[in-house]
Amino acid sequence: MLLSVKNLNVSYGDILVVRDVSLEVEEGEVVGIVGESGCGKSTMLHALMQLDPNISAKSETYLFDGEDLDHFGEEDWRRLRGKKMAMIFQNAEMAMDPMKKIAHQFYETVRMHEKKRKKIQCLKCAEEWMKKLNLSDTKRILNSYPYELSGGMCQRIAIAVAMMNDPKLILADEPTSALDVTSQAEAVKTMIQLKQQYHTSMILVTHNMGVVAQLADKVGVMYGGEMVEWGTTAEILKTPAHPYTRALLDAIPKMDGTISEGIAGKPPEYGKERKGCVFAPRCMYKKEECESGKINCYERSKTHWVRCKAS
Ligand SMILES: Nc1ncnc2c1ncn2[C@@H]1O[C@H](COP(=O)(O)OP(=O)(O)OP(=O)(O)O)[C@@H](O)[C@H]1O
Ligand SMILES: [Mg+2]
Repeated sequence: MLLSVKNLNVSYGDILVVRDVSLEVEEGEVVGIVGESGCGKSTMLHALMQLDPNISAKSETYLFDGEDLDHFGEEDWRRLRGKKMAMIFQNAEMAMDPMKKIAHQFYETVRMHEKKRKKIQCLKCAEEWMKKLNLSDTKRILNSYPYELSGGMCQRIAIAVAMMNDPKLILADEPTSALDVTSQAEAVKTMIQLKQQYHTSMILVTHNMGVVAQLADKVGVMYGGEMVEWGTTAEILKTPAHPYTRALLDAIPKMDGTISEGIAGKPPEYGKERKGCVFAPRCMYKKEECESGKINCYERSKTHWVRCKAS
């Protein structure tokens, strides 16, 4: 197992957002994380990489590539971040330094971990990665500022930058959502290539079930800061067990043009006391016992579990 996290809790100040989330990623595996806006997907990724000083995260277990990250200090994190574990942000252009040319963005990422690596070697490696990701005209790109490139190009460059240090795990936060449909398809193809050729593991946050179907091996469904269902992509897409997962899949527009009415009610507010199932107030199938007590995870198969009493 490459990554094993048990009962991760993440707060902003006193407000608990992510609750008791557990997840596992095997070597070479892509785990998709889905759930509507505000359910804590980015918060979870930022906590996994300790990116945000406003976040406080605690977990029972946090093992990654044989190391216990729960006991990591800031220096250990600097060694790990961008090297063994890299992040691709939703809006690649925004995540780059607008004042620095692309060559510099590559060079800085490598130099952070390998001070002795010469600039010329870094740029050669950057060009190789760009070519692997189907970016031609690499000299011009290296000499450009981020705003001089298209969204699709910036996204592929962000992937190339993330790959420069040969990471074991990439955390990708909606890497395709800021792109037009053509660039989205290109970015997805690029990520499929990374998975097939380099066996890079990935946690992929996305709203796009098509992207999940194409890329993910496993899927975690988040609602109100909790992981409510977990399974292989086939299990989640074909036999979803949680009423929230079913509603989420129903919300995808159909080929005949019908669009579902969505889920009535509002997502839970953070910072308030919770009783019973987090989804119960909006659930069509709720039973009395759903509104109190702790909701356990029920196994549907060795790889599929659901946090629901009514399913
Ligand atoms: N820096 C912050 N300080 C305080 N609260 C925050 C901060 N960032 C996010 N939150 C809150 O945490 C909750 C979860 O937000 P998060 O961005 O993790 O959701 P998300 O699932 O990534 O949503 P989206 O799909 O829209 O990106 C939201 O209620 C949000 O307002
Ligand atoms: Mg987000």
